[in-house]
Amino acid sequence: MDSPSPFLIVAIDGGAASGKSSTARALAARFPFLHVDTGAHYRAITAEMLRQGIPPEEAAVGRALADLALGTRVQDGAALLEIAGRVPGEEIRSPAVNAAVSHFAALRPVRAALLQYQRGQAEVARSHGFRGLVMEGRDIGSVIFPDAGLRVFLHADPEERARRRAREGQQDSIAERDRLDSSRQHAPLTCPAGAIDINSTHLSLDDVVARVAALVAARLSPP
Ligand code: C5P
Repeated sequence: MDSPSPFLIVAIDGGAASGKSSTARALAARFPFLHVDTGAHYRAITAEMLRQGIPPEEAAVGRALADLALGTRVQDGAALLEIAGRVPGEEIRSPAVNAAVSHFAALRPVRAALLQYQRGQAEVARSHGFRGLVMEGRDIGSVIFPDAGLRVFLHADPEERARRRAREGQQDSIAERDRLDSSRQHAPLTCPAGAIDINSTHLSLDDVVARVAALVAARLSPP
């Protein structure tokens, strides 16, 4: 009898507008794996801090985080962060959040709160019967799941990434976010050793998904 496929964790990291979300969503639907967008976690916390008028400073943010009840809602193949029982809406993509998120994401209490929460998503996926987890972000292959079965790092030229973001109608300084995310002290954006590096500048989304899907398939049923 065939042994059951192992539970697979796929880590997809990359800079702003590198194609992570579209790739992760398509992969998750194909296998099907649980999809987790960790950028949305940092955005949701940022939106909440802005709503409460809290500045991006460790002590103040640490105190506010201690009072936030974080939960998870699994919906349409994705795990969504709940704050006090509510999944934040489109406000997490606002220009104000785009401008502030990298400042909040650099703070130790924010990263510490989300580290355990994000690792816990593997159990959420298992308990909902998924064969695996696709988690996208900046530090998934380096910090959250360094032992993931597959770690991918997506690159694209800055001009192409700016075009993609403009097509989505978003106002977003992606170069500035990348600069802040790459230069911070805790869990900086970096391509970890051993990750598979894909430059998507001249590839369609379907091409990128096909490449990563082939890597996933090889790990699910090794020869
Ligand atoms: O992926 P997205 O562009 O929505 O991420 C928004 C911001 O959240 C990033 O610019 C970064 O500051 C932060 N982030 C992070 N670590 C992750 C995912 C996102 O610091 N794993």
